[in-house]
Amino acid sequence: MNSYKEHYSVLNKEVIDFLTENAPDEAVYADMTFGAGGHCFAFKKAKPNSRVYAVDQDSEAFRNGLELINSQGYTDSIELFNINFQNFPQIAQEKDLLFDGIVMDLGVSSHHFDSFERGFSFRESAPLDMRMDISNNELTAKKIVNDYSSEELERIFFEYGEEKFSKTIVKNILESRERKEIETTKELEDIIFHSYPKKMRHGKTHPATKAFQALRIEVNKELEVLEKTLQKLFGLLKDGGRLAVISFHSLEDRIVKHEFKKIYQNNREFVKILTKRPLQPGDMEISENKRSRSAKLRVIEKNHGGFGDQKKYKKYKKET
Ligand SMILES: C[S@@+](CC[C@H](N)C(=O)[O-])C[C@H]1O[C@@H](n2cnc3c(N)ncnc32)[C@H](O)[C@@H]1O
Repeated sequence: MNSYKEHYSVLNKEVIDFLTENAPDEAVYADMTFGAGGHCFAFKKAKPNSRVYAVDQDSEAFRNGLELINSQGYTDSIELFNINFQNFPQIAQEKDLLFDGIVMDLGVSSHHFDSFERGFSFRESAPLDMRMDISNNELTAKKIVNDYSSEELERIFFEYGEEKFSKTIVKNILESRERKEIETTKELEDIIFHSYPKKMRHGKTHPATKAFQALRIEVNKELEVLEKTLQKLFGLLKDGGRLAVISFHSLEDRIVKHEFKKIYQNNREFVKILTKRPLQPGDMEISENKRSRSAKLRVIEKNHGGFGDQKKYKKYKKET
């Protein structure tokens, strides 16, 4: 296993400020995307008596996480689950848990890009895989590239990658896979590179970046899982609890914005959207961590029942 490097947690200060501001000393937190544990350990630093329930669907992140939790002396107060966060609400309900704060820091970690053998990066040749959850997900990037119809491929590259040259890329993929299966990241990178007009092949962003991102989103069903889970997580907040979501893709941010709006419209009196516009990292953070440049943070709060119509609030509490 490629070891986890020292890692910048995106918008760390902002997330921790939002989620600790009104929380008690013995706050209960949930981290839906443990990764290298940056946000999770930051909760413990800010609130040493807190308890954190954390999740990562990637078994490497999970194994590494258990070691980190152990070496930092947090085995009694951080519990880590190797599951997809869409399954967390059920676990929390079974355990009768409610939270003062929940964080989601979406997508893959820099560790995924650095572990070439996982197929997320085209910097080295590796099998076209891109699964975060190798044990339960059977859909790989290789299956998509070789088996999906041209319409499906075009939709994925265009919608998830906003790729202008989707049509040409798909035409070239189809021609190539008729001759032989496309197996590696480098083979795919080469096809995409040559699908770009010559004068656009050497710009700031590599031609394969968008298509690789689109495939990753499809492999891991990232948008569907997010959409299904946000309202359920909101339902797990205590009175006064907050849900903070960091997204890196415009479609993800759109889902977060819409789901938050739906929650608000259903229960105007008891819900506050704390970020009218998403917060984004400042120049300093972007210069230290290039990956943070597309990050957007949105935060929503379940208001405590100290105001509004108490009867309505009790009914609302029962329903959420
Ligand atoms: C951006 S990283 C999180 C970094 C972390 N906040 C930190 O500071 O170290 C995202 C992590 O979430 C995990 N992940 C992404 N989608 C997930 C999902 N649906 N369920 C569980 N884990 C997920 C990925 O495997 C990855 O390790």
